[in-house]
Amino acid sequence: MSNEYLTNFDPARVESPAFVVDLGALEANLRRVSEVRRRTGAQILMALKAFAVPATFPLMRQFLQGVCSSSPHESRLGRERFGLEVHCYSPAYSEGDMREQLDLSDHIVFNSLTQWERFKAVCLARPGKSFGLRVNPQHSETGVALYDPCAPGSRLGVTADELQGHDIQGIEGLHVHTLCQKGADALDRTASAFERQFSPWLKRMKWLNFGGGHAITRGDYDLDLLCSVIERFQKTYGLQVYLEPGETVAANTGSLFSTVLDVVSNSGVATAILDVSATCHMPDVLEMPYHAEVRGSLAPENAPWRCRLGGLSCLAGDVIGEYGFAAPLRPGDRLEFLDMIQYTMVKTTTFNGVRLPSIALYDPRADRVEVVRRFGYEDYLARLA
Ligand SMILES: Cc1ncc(COP(=O)(O)O)c(C=O)c1O
Repeated sequence: MSNEYLTNFDPARVESPAFVVDLGALEANLRRVSEVRRRTGAQILMALKAFAVPATFPLMRQFLQGVCSSSPHESRLGRERFGLEVHCYSPAYSEGDMREQLDLSDHIVFNSLTQWERFKAVCLARPGKSFGLRVNPQHSETGVALYDPCAPGSRLGVTADELQGHDIQGIEGLHVHTLCQKGADALDRTASAFERQFSPWLKRMKWLNFGGGHAITRGDYDLDLLCSVIERFQKTYGLQVYLEPGETVAANTGSLFSTVLDVVSNSGVATAILDVSATCHMPDVLEMPYHAEVRGSLAPENAPWRCRLGGLSCLAGDVIGEYGFAAPLRPGDRLEFLDMIQYTMVKTTTFNGVRLPSIALYDPRADRVEVVRRFGYEDYLARLA
């Protein structure tokens, strides 16, 4: 993992707690991702579900061709704030969702044949829109069931068996999203499995969306292989390929800064209680689960002092993990959780009324920090009253 962001950034320059996005690191990721566009002509859409801070959209727009959305709200954000293309997909649309999506989105992807049949007439009456179907190649590359759209019994996408014998006139594209933080080899295998099953339909399509989950900005990612898979499909089937990465665009672009409020001890276990919370501010730490790195921390086994880092909510399991430090933490110490930009701000909650971290941008060229959003009681109240 690369920590080439916010290097030498003094935590005292920002209030606590706060997410800080390093615009230089974000731009470096965008340049890398847009290489794919330059080399293959594939269109790259930002998955707003992963990261959606509008103040960064002017930068992102320079490198990406639009957004992919999962709901009318994300589509509206894309349409009003990002501009360019808006492509939506949801496991199911209500009639109200469909009305909104038809106004907001350029591409609308359906998860099932029943949803397509239900909305087909209203869709085909709207010129200028393109409709697609999410398919499920039943080829798993993702070990974590929570993140595996191809797990047995998955509700996501139509299988080749289901599609057999169905008239899908009006569908112009197929959408296949099966990966999560994967290399191009996983896409290559998935694409082959997908092609074996779906080539009869692929021949009639105008576009193919390979979804997200591509770790394009990771140092070991095989960009040549990705480009060759894209080129092969575009050439063989005469269609336009789209990718909709989220995580990889925002990966390693910033941190969550926090402060130690107290240090408690029970049965010989020390816990530093922070002004952030796993469940409220970094839910993937509990869901995935994964270990959030803290800049300057040590492996707990060998450290002079070890402790748990605990969150501010009342949830007993609101524990961020076990960490080691050179010296005991004290109230007032600042901690920086690394790589905390993707799937954090978009997933935060105000459980327990815990204050949401501010959102700040750091421009390393100008050495300037700008807080773009602070949260208060009104934000908590607005969700309930
Ligand atoms: C349909 C779809 N597209 C794109 C993405 C973005 O994936 P990632 O952030 O892993 O690149 C996801 C993530 O779950 C998704 O479900």
